[in-house]
Amino acid sequence: MKSWGLLLVAALALSGSYAVDRNNFKTCDQSGFCKRLRGFKPEKSEYTLNLDTVLVHGNVLSAEVDTVDTSTQERKVLWHYAMRLSALVDGTFRVEIDEVDPLYPRYRTQLALNGEPKADGLKLLSNENGKLTLANSQGHKVVITAAPLKIEFLNQAGDVAVVLNDNAQLVVEPLRVKKERIDDEDGNAVEVEEEGTWGESFKSHHDSKPRGNEAVSLDFSFPDADNVYGIPEHTDKFALKTTTSGEPYRLFNLDVFEYELDSRMAIYGAVPVLYSHGPKHSAGVFWHNSAETWVDIVNYADSTVVSSLVNLVTGGQKRRVDARFISESGIVDVFVFLGEKPSDVFRQYVMLTGPAPLPPKFSLAYHQCRWNYVDEADVRSVDNGFDEHDIPADVIWLDIEYTDRKKYFTWDPLKFPNPAEMIANLTSKGRKLVTIIDPHVKREAGYFLHEDATELGYYVKDKDGKDYEGWCWPGSSSYLDFFNPVVSKYYSERYSFENFPGTSKDVHIWNDMNEPSVFNGPEITMPKDCRHYKPPQDGNDGLAAYWEHRHVHNEYGLWNIRATHEGMLQRADSKYRPFILTRSAFAGTQRYAAVWTGDNMAEWGFLAVSVPMCLSLASAGISFCGSDVGGFFKYPEAELMTRWYQAGAFQPFFRAHSHIETKRREPWLYDPATTALLRDANRRRYALIDFWYTLFYEHSVDGLPVMRALFQEYPKEEDTYTIDDQYLLGNKLLVRPVVEPGVSNVKVYLPGSATRTLWYDVDTYHAYPANGYLTFDVTLSKVPVFQRGGGIVLRKERVRRSSALMADDPYTIVVALDANGTSEGSLYIDDGETYEYRNNKYIYAKLAYEPSAMTYSFVNDKASYPTRSWVERIVIAGIKNPPKTAKLVQGEKQTSLQMTLHKGNDVLVVRKPAASMAQPWKIIFSY
Ligand code: NOJ
Repeated sequence: MKSWGLLLVAALALSGSYAVDRNNFKTCDQSGFCKRLRGFKPEKSEYTLNLDTVLVHGNVLSAEVDTVDTSTQERKVLWHYAMRLSALVDGTFRVEIDEVDPLYPRYRTQLALNGEPKADGLKLLSNENGKLTLANSQGHKVVITAAPLKIEFLNQAGDVAVVLNDNAQLVVEPLRVKKERIDDEDGNAVEVEEEGTWGESFKSHHDSKPRGNEAVSLDFSFPDADNVYGIPEHTDKFALKTTTSGEPYRLFNLDVFEYELDSRMAIYGAVPVLYSHGPKHSAGVFWHNSAETWVDIVNYADSTVVSSLVNLVTGGQKRRVDARFISESGIVDVFVFLGEKPSDVFRQYVMLTGPAPLPPKFSLAYHQCRWNYVDEADVRSVDNGFDEHDIPADVIWLDIEYTDRKKYFTWDPLKFPNPAEMIANLTSKGRKLVTIIDPHVKREAGYFLHEDATELGYYVKDKDGKDYEGWCWPGSSSYLDFFNPVVSKYYSERYSFENFPGTSKDVHIWNDMNEPSVFNGPEITMPKDCRHYKPPQDGNDGLAAYWEHRHVHNEYGLWNIRATHEGMLQRADSKYRPFILTRSAFAGTQRYAAVWTGDNMAEWGFLAVSVPMCLSLASAGISFCGSDVGGFFKYPEAELMTRWYQAGAFQPFFRAHSHIETKRREPWLYDPATTALLRDANRRRYALIDFWYTLFYEHSVDGLPVMRALFQEYPKEEDTYTIDDQYLLGNKLLVRPVVEPGVSNVKVYLPGSATRTLWYDVDTYHAYPANGYLTFDVTLSKVPVFQRGGGIVLRKERVRRSSALMADDPYTIVVALDANGTSEGSLYIDDGETYEYRNNKYIYAKLAYEPSAMTYSFVNDKASYPTRSWVERIVIAGIKNPPKTAKLVQGEKQTSLQMTLHKGNDVLVVRKPAASMAQPWKIIFSY
């Protein structure tokens, strides 16, 4: 049998041209359910709520919804559905619609939610004229119109923010028994089912569809919205586009070789959450479904939307966006977020699916990867290269070639004979190793994983119940069925130090190819009629005994990383925080792993798109995002490489990576001037390492995006709604990476109030009042980064070989003053790797500057950490009236401090305050 992996590589090398092969992936028309449902546009919904069945109990309204044949007078009921509307805490509602008595249970997505959502109160306010009005305890309202069914959600201001089924696109295709073929006298079928109902084909692949059609769909309207955002992962703009004249956005985790830009095609990740925003309010919906999903968008303000449609739907009002989700299977299960600000809707989503936990600190530093570092000597020389060239780095990565012929949890005995020694060499400098573990298992006699999985029945089964065999890097492969708790447990145990010899707490994991990627499968993934484990229940036989891959596809990778995460916890008695990188992503992925944007190219467009791609993932709870710095395919020339390092240094996950066939490109392999620029980019990252760590600590508590769109902080400023080439880190830094070749200036939008908001260039401390777009000169060494006036940022200026070696280093505190001469910031410190912070072994401090004093105080005074860090320097930018004296008060000690004035006398430097960061302190200024 031929090797698909090598074929792909060879095809790339030979062709020299780089473009996705679209023929490998379905369009909506080639996807049976998408075509069928997209074409369904009734004037009126057939779905009506039976008012006689309404029951409100606790936080839930339940009622029967029926489809009614509206073509006849008798209004015959066609099908019965059960609807539940629940009020949840924090301005969130849930609507579930399932068949009352389905032929087999319909799949309910299992892992996306972080536990059972918490209930709020729900009250029925009125039931008259075919309308029910309800309210939760916070004054959000729901108005349900019974016939045809329509559900309006009103926010606290009383505005209708989200409407369900306004466009009559609610569909739940009932599960049915296949009709017997009936022949007439001549032997011709008189009653045939619609083509494709019980099987459909794509290219050479046939999907047997044993349950027949089981799609679901629903439309959402967002009155007053200018734009909608979310549903990553795509290479399109952050603000989503109208899809009427093209393909819908597709959500289906796929390994798309040489994926293209500006596309709505599905790629590796699929998170079905969508947000709307306009000057009045934000809102959001989370489509809780793990099957293949397509999303159509109509933004009535888009020039592509004809005015007759605008008039018909909105009565001429252009401020409205409609969206429609269509999934192949599952039930209708939707969470509605009523905002009202962008940060509210982002939080509401994250609180359902869980915030990302605090990552180990090293993972926020610089990562050096390549497919592949070929042997231990290579790893050593790359590791040394960083020291020789004085470039900080925290992690070296090993791609698939480190294994013994692609058998995961093993090492190539010739190239990596002494992994423990190799790792010890890294850890002696505070560095770590990340190794890749893919979910496919080589089918080779004698390979323990394959033998165990075969014997114990741990593989995903094909449509006939035999172990499914696909083709991936190792050749013939099978795939563990993580849906079976026994399999997940077995897999977790493979990560123990005994089972994965050579590894230690300083080895972290990269789970790649987990869409899952199957080189010879339909659309390079697993056939949808493959079978997954389902917990046994009474009467579960035949089709009710298993889930099909179609039901669970988008959460397969989530089950994979969950088991990895569990294994990494267990291997060290839950003492250390795991770091995992995953390629496939779904709702909830952030609880276990960071995500990168996959196989990009060394082209300017791919550098540029890393920003909207990560903004979109961040809005969907996945802040820990980055792109392959330098680009995976092709070779980045010096300027592109420089700009990519500079951009990556200001994105959450900062890792250089490259394809096996490309020229080596460690930072010192460029000309010395370029190497110096790459070094500078890394040093900027390390100087801000505690700023990043603090942001991620705060993110673990509030769930808000670390890398955030401008409109999150400035929701009334309409210019910000479509900006996705610049972003904020927390609410303190504004970053506009240079993503264009050969430019000598770039336009930057400075948000806020022209009279009150200042933005300080971080290199010069020059203050610019917020005034919309300004043009800034850039050189090859300059990236526009601004610190908001009113924000304090802490830096560590003594850059060392790794972040661990900087733990005790002193801080430079940069205080950027606002128009009132005040500023605030925060700092988080702990041991960087364990869970001891949960036992109050940490410092979370607020810093506040006022003309009279600057204070450093602990938010939780029960918590402490014996840090040896201290304050080396305080830089106060934008000072109008410099104080005459400064006195440090810490504990019993009082010290007079020296100060110097700089620049046009508006930058005050407090020299060597030498305050310890282990205790609160205060500096008193006098005038
Ligand atoms: C695909 C991944 O996207 C890429 O980063 C990796 O280098 C290759 N698999 C080989 O493991």
